Amino acid sequence: MSARTIFSVNGQPFFPLGGQVHNSSAYTASELETGWRALEEIRANTAEIPIYWDLIEPEEGRFDFSVLGKMIESAREHNLKLILLWFGTWKNGTMKYTPSWVKNNPKKFKRVITREGVSTSVLSSHCDTNLEADTKAFRALMEYIKRVDEKEQTVIALQVENEPGIMGGAKRDYSEESEKEFRNLVPEYLIRKVQENSGSIINNVWKENGGKEKGSWEELFGYDAEEFFTAWSIARYIDRIAEGGKKIYDIPMYVNVWLATEWDIPGAGYPSGGAVPKVLDIWKWTAKNIDLIAPDIYARNQKSYYDFCNLYNRNDNPLFIPESSIDESNSLNMFRAIADYNAVGFHIFGIESILDENGSVKSSARSVVNSFKSLSSAIPLILRYQGTSNIHSVIQEEYASEQRINLGKYAGFVRFLQLDPYTHLIDPGAGPLDFHHRDQIREERGRGLLIQTGEREFYLLGGGYRLLLYRKDMLRAPLSVFYSSDFIKSRSIDYLSVEEGFFDADGNWITARKRSGDESDYGVWVHPDVGVVRVVLSEE
Ligand code: DGJ
Repeated sequence: MSARTIFSVNGQPFFPLGGQVHNSSAYTASELETGWRALEEIRANTAEIPIYWDLIEPEEGRFDFSVLGKMIESAREHNLKLILLWFGTWKNGTMKYTPSWVKNNPKKFKRVITREGVSTSVLSSHCDTNLEADTKAFRALMEYIKRVDEKEQTVIALQVENEPGIMGGAKRDYSEESEKEFRNLVPEYLIRKVQENSGSIINNVWKENGGKEKGSWEELFGYDAEEFFTAWSIARYIDRIAEGGKKIYDIPMYVNVWLATEWDIPGAGYPSGGAVPKVLDIWKWTAKNIDLIAPDIYARNQKSYYDFCNLYNRNDNPLFIPESSIDESNSLNMFRAIADYNAVGFHIFGIESILDENGSVKSSARSVVNSFKSLSSAIPLILRYQGTSNIHSVIQEEYASEQRINLGKYAGFVRFLQLDPYTHLIDPGAGPLDFHHRDQIREERGRGLLIQTGEREFYLLGGGYRLLLYRKDMLRAPLSVFYSSDFIKSRSIDYLSVEEGFFDADGNWITARKRSGDESDYGVWVHPDVGVVRVVLSEE
């Protein structure tokens, strides 16, 4: 599966690149302006914006979409697409955005009850009245979007709920209805799937508990039974909401995940039943109307970040990252997510936070902003080459001064300009680059993408590195002093052209500036403010 099969606009593949607004309080027009400004700064094409259930249905059955209408108009004025986040039954595992007529009537709209019998501020997924009310509101939302937007397609996708699960000191609901279901036999289709997926997390748990063909949740899954059961119940609930919405207007729908790692406690450390790696299979087998399960990846260290990318990038689940941090770490990791884990879209959370009170980019956000700028100039290339072996991430891992990339007849030697991020020792062979960038280019760690589009054609984006292209046949020639220095080797390559530029809306390459002589003799360098660099080599 590639980006083509998930997000599209007017039948054309679309790669959503952008940010999610801070979403915890109702939005004022001036706050929205800051959001648009910040999105413009990262050259976003998409904004993720919440729709609160309590705002659109203040009284049961009376809907008010005026705020959404203005939002859609305003997004169009700013040339942005929208991904709307439905804050219904769940937001971060609680019911914070449900209307007061739901909150004030716990007898009708039932809550999750803890083992001790305490009522929580989480709606129960075992209560049909809850499901009906949420589905009704969601369907009304989809009807409105279809009516005002089917032609323009400003809204390209819906996030159904926000980080669903039980966040309230319970691994599962102990209400009467839930108890009854929990004692039932595990549905046959789930057991069949578990059996078919040998080697999966859930299959291992099942085997550890005796690998029985039939039984209750506890009999089949032991300690994990409560979390598995909750995942199944919530996945089924959300699937029905999505099904209701899709019957009205069929656009991509996904569920986001508050991630957890082993030993985190469900219900306390993260929302129990949310689509964390352990129960991802249950979600995929149950929520058929959900196109994607999308992890919110805030991990800073590269190992955890890549592990999460790997777990959610599956044949049945392309990776989409709806939330990530504005840290420097993410300014590197995002390239890995796109090149090596085929992310079909990428967003950071709390986009307004990149700006200071004067509206300038904060120094702490500069590298992430720069990475976004680079990516935004190359989206047509990403869509065309994603999932192929032509796209390579360039990442200056800790302590790395160089990265080597196999490019067919050529060997790519990536030299990072900042040799050591701690001592700020720089690449001594980096030469003059160009006079605009001599100093600033070494400020940030090397990162970006290298995309090979033909035997002798390459596109580079990102910053903090230079690429030396060597002919492999020359490297393999008998050792000679001549070929041992970068200085000589980088001058021995024949460029037909080295150009700075970008892609227009139709995907055509536009050259902004040509480089030669001093500016290409030391290899091909790139920086976010030059957009993309295209290199074509001559025939040997
Ligand atoms: C994840 C949630 O999905 C967001 O709505 C927001 O609460 C962030 N966490 C805050 O870090």
